[in-house]
Amino acid sequence: MSETSAGVTEAPQERGGAGREATGATIRLESLTKRYPGSADPAVDSVNMEINAGELVVLVGPSGCGKSTTLKMINRLIEPTGGRIRIGGEDVTHMDPVKLRRKIGYAIQSSGLFPHMTVAQNIGLVPKMVGWSKVRVAERIEEMLDLVGLDAGEFHGRYPRQLSGGQQQRVGVARALAADPPVLLMDEPFGAVDPITRDHLQDELIRLQHELHKTIVFVTHDFDEAIKLGDRIAVLREQSHIAQFDTPEAILTNPADDFVSGFVGAGAALKRLNLTRVRDVEITDYPTVTVDDPLQEIFNKIRASGTNEILLLDRRGRPYKWLRRGDLMRARGSLARAGTLVNDTVTRDATLRDALEAVLTDNAGRVVVTGRRGEYTGVVDMETLMNSVQEMLEADRLDAMEHQHELEEARSEQTRHEQEGREGAAGAAGGGEAKA
Ligand SMILES: Nc1ncnc2c1ncn2[C@@H]1O[C@H](COP(=O)(O)OP(=O)(O)OP(=O)(O)O)[C@@H](O)[C@H]1O
Ligand SMILES: [Mg+2]
Repeated sequence: MSETSAGVTEAPQERGGAGREATGATIRLESLTKRYPGSADPAVDSVNMEINAGELVVLVGPSGCGKSTTLKMINRLIEPTGGRIRIGGEDVTHMDPVKLRRKIGYAIQSSGLFPHMTVAQNIGLVPKMVGWSKVRVAERIEEMLDLVGLDAGEFHGRYPRQLSGGQQQRVGVARALAADPPVLLMDEPFGAVDPITRDHLQDELIRLQHELHKTIVFVTHDFDEAIKLGDRIAVLREQSHIAQFDTPEAILTNPADDFVSGFVGAGAALKRLNLTRVRDVEITDYPTVTVDDPLQEIFNKIRASGTNEILLLDRRGRPYKWLRRGDLMRARGSLARAGTLVNDTVTRDATLRDALEAVLTDNAGRVVVTGRRGEYTGVVDMETLMNSVQEMLEADRLDAMEHQHELEEARSEQTRHEQEGREGAAGAAGGGEAKA
């Protein structure tokens, strides 16, 4: 296969047209090894890994275990001393590294922006280098700024030092994606920003990936980040030996060994809260009235509700106030003065963790769930949350046991086949060269 014009990545990008499905490429690491000169042991020792096209794989592991070295071998910022890298089926182990890197987006912790270039120049750099026309580069810069949620007019001409840390990271991601590479490598890209900004950037990456379907290899030492982002997670021990490579759910519920359990931590329940959405639990219907309902009807409904409390909705069906009978009496029937404002809501897409936070800060221990346009859809309370998490953990345990059982069955099946195979081969070969 030639590494000229097509190289590893042109294909998906050339599908053309707005709203195209840019698809990532598979990445295969075969016995990939790095021995730094003068070191007794390899920093990365014979890693084998297959990453599917369009998949986001997170590498986690303790400091110094070789995550960055592994990542940088994929775009050959570090030359492997052994093994092979295949991208989209093509062996790129010896391809011109400069050409290779133009096809692979790369985002790092310090954003890596060139300080003497404007935001636009930084983003346009690779597209320009690969020969896109001026017009196309200019359009792309706007498109990328838009994609990462920065106003093009405002940020176009700024220099990196005139941006906040989070904005720099956004530009870093925009630059990495500018030439539409099928593969994106990210080395602790959100490591240097505050937790709230990090959370936003993570959300944005999830949204981006939903649109773009790149193949992303993401390095972090934060397991929560790994769980939130990864389709699969590779937990690495020293020398990048893979301790476990599986989905977040499987790793949480069925850690391969003590090393992985240690990494996962004891907070399995808490982590389950991060993985589950409000729509996955039972949302209770609550008695509601609207601001246009006659007072008498509101009184009647409160009385009939059994909860002595009712949810007052505004004209557009959005939660407005919690209303008790006494509130209405005291306010002499004035809806404007009665009740307590609903100050926190969650959507059906929120995580149970968000819901739990809202529930914990609510004096009655519940939170209103809203739909797309902020309209009332139901209520989730503490008891529901607790029960759901309990049930999920129980189901996880059962799944894990079943999985374990299946594994054991498969293993014994395999042993049986191997046994039969050996016997068969020995029989057929009749003492000659037996081929398995
Ligand atoms: N240029 C180098 N020369 C010699 N040894 C190196 C070099 N770069 C890294 N190492 C060593 O290789 C090992 C792996 O380093 P690497 O940077 O890949 O780890 P990491 O998992 O990314 O760690 P961290 O989480 O701290 O970023 C470490 O022991 C490190 O000291
Ligand atoms: Mg590192």
